[in-house]
Amino acid sequence: MGKKKILVTGGAGFIGGNFVQYMVNKYPQYDIYNLDLLTYAGDLTKHIDIETKENYRFVKADIADRDTINVLFEKEQFDYVIHFAAESHVDRSITDPGVFVKTNVLGTQVLLDASRKINVTKFVHVSTDEVYGELDFDPTTFFTEETPINPSSPYSASKASSDLIVHSYFETYDLPINITRCSNNYGPYHFPEKLIPLTISRVLNNQKVPVYGDGKNVRDWLHVIDHCSAIDLVLHEGVKGEVYNIGGHNERTNLEVVKTIIKHLNKSENLIEFVDDRLGHDKRYAIDPTKLEKLGWIPKYNFDSGIIDTINWYLDNFEWWEKILSADYQNYFKKQYNLN
Ligand code: NAD
Ligand code: DAU
Repeated sequence: MGKKKILVTGGAGFIGGNFVQYMVNKYPQYDIYNLDLLTYAGDLTKHIDIETKENYRFVKADIADRDTINVLFEKEQFDYVIHFAAESHVDRSITDPGVFVKTNVLGTQVLLDASRKINVTKFVHVSTDEVYGELDFDPTTFFTEETPINPSSPYSASKASSDLIVHSYFETYDLPINITRCSNNYGPYHFPEKLIPLTISRVLNNQKVPVYGDGKNVRDWLHVIDHCSAIDLVLHEGVKGEVYNIGGHNERTNLEVVKTIIKHLNKSENLIEFVDDRLGHDKRYAIDPTKLEKLGWIPKYNFDSGIIDTINWYLDNFEWWEKILSADYQNYFKKQYNLN
């Protein structure tokens, strides 16, 4: 039997990029295909250490381009599909929702059709805890897999829509799917539009850090490598048709996160600038990962050391993120925030 072929969509982005590296290094017996459109969020320079490896391939394509996707699937006959590709930033979905529906909803449906035609062994749909909406600040409440879907932003609504379509392909066509819903990730190669890398890059440049509202919203942080190991487990051991929540019980307010970064970099809290709140801003996310733990998942990182490792990674990899803070990024930042 030949080597198994694994298609990873969105493998030039933050989480997909870490996942591709994790899989290429861990499984020489699999051929890993990275399919990505290389939008503003995609970048291949992060793969310099794996790009010449024999079990790694890159394909540039749009997941919403049905003809191209069908031809590729017919030709390669993938065994597994792990679907990360998406428009992922909530703030961008508030200013420009259309592309979120095209990529996240239509693109997912195109991949499902192509996967069905070639009878893939498993389709893992990487989703988010944001599909559940928000929790209040009662620390004893968590999202479980039974929490009703109730998304707030165009981003989370597009992900919730894709989750429902993925589930329907299981019920209707018996396509062997899993859906994973993870909390906020942090770690290497995080695009500096998101809170943690935005704060690190701004603080290092002695620039103001925009904190929405009163900074008391809570996110549940997970190191990206713990997310990768969870998906690896679900790919191989997940019961088909099932949803798995992923999270490591690391709740922090946004202000706590920003202050931790400022403190580690020996800068002043005067850099914090409270700005207008995000529209429809979810108060709190918190994951109950019991179901995944029962499958055998054990996260390795705790937030207090993981965030320091991450800050140090940004200090050591200045060239990677500096080139991202280009003209396009500056234009985006100016439109999004009234800050220099
Ligand atoms: P990202 O924005 O860093 O990367 C997305 C990648 O998808 C980029 O490489 C981009 O070029 C690619 N892409 C976008 N549109 C495409 C298209 N039409 N065709 C092909 N490729 C396309 O995103 P991320 O933060 O790495 O998130 C990856 C996935 O994980 C998303 O599905 C997201 O919803 C989910 N997720 C993210 C988090 C988080 O904290 N970042 C948490 C839970 C789930
Ligand atoms: O929960 C999982 C989700 O986490 C993923 O599905 C999304 O793809 C990912 O982007 C992330 O969404 P968030 O909206 O939670 O992440 P973000 O980094 O944009 O914001 C984190 C918190 O920080 C949120 O409460 C908003 C706040 N924030 C964010 C930015 C960019 C600020 O206060 N200031 C900012 O400038």
